[in-house]
Amino acid sequence: MTEPFTIAIDGPAAAGKGTISRAVAAHFNCAHLDTGLLYRAVGAKMLLGQDPADAARGLTAADTQGAGLRSPEVAQAASRVAVLPEVRAALLDFQRSFARRAGGAVLDGRDIGTVICPQAEVKLFVTASAEVRAQRRYAELVAGGSEVSPAQVLADVRERDARDRDRAAAPLKPAPDAVTIDTSDMTIDQAVTRAIGAVERARTG
Ligand code: CDP
Repeated sequence: MTEPFTIAIDGPAAAGKGTISRAVAAHFNCAHLDTGLLYRAVGAKMLLGQDPADAARGLTAADTQGAGLRSPEVAQAASRVAVLPEVRAALLDFQRSFARRAGGAVLDGRDIGTVICPQAEVKLFVTASAEVRAQRRYAELVAGGSEVSPAQVLADVRERDARDRDRAAAPLKPAPDAVTIDTSDMTIDQAVTRAIGAVERARTG
């Protein structure tokens, strides 16, 4: 891809967006932005006592590379700062210009197809049952050395889903023209193949 071409991938917590987005970006040789990391970085700064809107306005690339950003505490903090319109507004321009870079871009998050890039050439909504998503997140966290219980991870996923869906600012929902991929009964390879197929169809029109 040489022209700007935006692939928007939204969905609830731990649905597989990250893995699918990275695979789609590698397949089409385009850039990838995990927008959740922006909110996680702001959430981490809030946990350190900073005002979330100030943190969002002053965010640097280095802030999104911290080792602790994948923890459950930071995920919850991210979804708390994500309800704030000032935080979302501060992160908007960066995401929009990333989306229109030459060579194409994959952005994954909650509101990419609905608010950040409503004109995206392809919109996917990747989902799975809360139980399946919690199992996957549990396995990831344990592999990363976290001490968590399956029940706690399920409760966290449900709490974050509810906050993301019910907020007034850019709530989590599929864009009207999004292709939904329910990965509950799919392997990651199947989900990636499905996503690449949807992008191919959009490219060839
Ligand atoms: O990896 P996971 O799906 O668990 O979460 P994430 O994508 O890293 O996002 C963390 C939190 O940031 C979400 O629960 C949302 O509250 C928020 N977020 C958002 O509001 N909008 C986005 N575009 C991306 C993330």
